[in-house]
Amino acid sequence: MSEVTEIDPAVASRGSGTIPVYDPSTEELIGEVPDSDQAAVDAAVARARETFEFGVWRRLPAKQRADVLFRAAQIIRDRTDELAVLEGRDNGLNVAAARHIITVALDVLMYYAGWVGKVHGQSSDVVSDGVLGHYERYHNFTQLEPVGVVGLIIPWNGPFFVAMLKVAPALAAGCSAVLKPAEETPHTALKLEEIFREAGLPDGVLNVITGYGETTGAALTAHPDVDKVSFTGSTEVGRLIVQAAAGNLKRLTLELGGKSPAIVFDDANLKKAIPGVGMGFLAGSGQNCSCTSRIYVQRGIYDQVVEGLVRFAKKLPMGGSAEPGSLLGPLVSEKQRQRVLGILNDGVAAGAEVATGGKAMDRRGYFVEATVVTNTTPDMRLIREEIFGPVGCVIPFGDEDEVLVAANDTRYGLAASLWTEKLGRAHWFADELRAGQVWVNCSIAADPAMPISGHKESGWGGERGWKGIEAYLTTKAVYISH
Ligand code: NAI
Ligand code: MG
Repeated sequence: MSEVTEIDPAVASRGSGTIPVYDPSTEELIGEVPDSDQAAVDAAVARARETFEFGVWRRLPAKQRADVLFRAAQIIRDRTDELAVLEGRDNGLNVAAARHIITVALDVLMYYAGWVGKVHGQSSDVVSDGVLGHYERYHNFTQLEPVGVVGLIIPWNGPFFVAMLKVAPALAAGCSAVLKPAEETPHTALKLEEIFREAGLPDGVLNVITGYGETTGAALTAHPDVDKVSFTGSTEVGRLIVQAAAGNLKRLTLELGGKSPAIVFDDANLKKAIPGVGMGFLAGSGQNCSCTSRIYVQRGIYDQVVEGLVRFAKKLPMGGSAEPGSLLGPLVSEKQRQRVLGILNDGVAAGAEVATGGKAMDRRGYFVEATVVTNTTPDMRLIREEIFGPVGCVIPFGDEDEVLVAANDTRYGLAASLWTEKLGRAHWFADELRAGQVWVNCSIAADPAMPISGHKESGWGGERGWKGIEAYLTTKAVYISH
């Protein structure tokens, strides 16, 4: 067994059964992690609760808390290669992309480490009507306090990064946390617990539990001693979490699915637009919540863009996480591959045409060819559902009004990408697109300081930037009478 398969006995003792983990590039079993049962979830929540109530983390001086986060960042920097290999083996990302995931996670941690000590309320000197009818003077202030024990549930796409989008601001805010990674990709989350311990985070402040969503995840979201849940994953599970949170009225942050449009106008710089739109639906083999899989192209340049995207898709080197030079990896699991092919085949049966790709690859690993589809209709699953695979649908349009209606015709609202050289048009569409982020002449751009906040059924609340840490804070108003 490799280092990936070794199970820390302390971790193994947390659950009843185990969960097998497969390398999506080779279909080989690479490890087993605990399938945490209700008792294991209770124990993790109790540890987090105890640390929160005793204030072993939230009450520390800001400088000491920031120190821990910066030390963790240094450990991650030193261990980037090792973490990238683990991430690639769990998820299928090639080593360069996996390194990128670790590096951007590190950026997020540095960003939130910088917030520690800079979170404060406001003061306000007021004179107001007193209860006895005479004026009273107050010096009032608000203070921002950690929301409590938080449950963090993450998916298998970019797992170390998505974990950090929650863990870093939660810890920066002073919360205690229980993190549940996806059953497909648990290994780097387990490392995260180890890294923070080594950095000096008091025991029990960050607890990682592995397990299936329907059991371990559901137990965490329903737990009466968890104050808040932050979830990234499917809209379907988001809805279940809303119901589970009703018991103790948990606060929620939900980063859910997307069905984002890319719009290419005939004045766009196609040298930039074609690779930009290509990576917009192919990055991470399309397993990316902000993937732009509905590609609207103005009629005059439609054929040219379809040909360009087909060429781009064909030349992207595909390969497993350890294969040098590969850019496009497998899907995370056979289940995911079947889901993607199911959506694609439904569309083809209803008249959609495959311009390139369209099949599982004839090799080991859960690969699907980079696929460009034309001739779709708006009612197809290809156009309505999040595909989460390397499939882009190219759709012709006539004018601005037509494409704006089509782009917004979705229950989702996570992202949109726009390609035009006209400044006024860019501003107009940035205003009118119903999406949490709009990219003009770029796609899948991200920065720790820029919030992502799903509109419509893409979610509640937001992550990154101030919004990301505010999500773990609650406000108290204090009145002091003179
Ligand atoms: P999922 O939403 O079921 O899984 C995400 C996380 O939620 C995992 O950690 C899972 O264990 C947990 N989970 C599942 N059921 C739960 C429950 N009842 N209570 C609490 N936690 C629960 O996503 P899945 O099944 O892996 O993928 C299915 C589809 O969902 C994908 O094809 C894709 O369309 C979408 N998806 C979207 C993501 C995004 O970032 N927008 C991420 C992952 C999946
Ligand atoms: Mg699921």
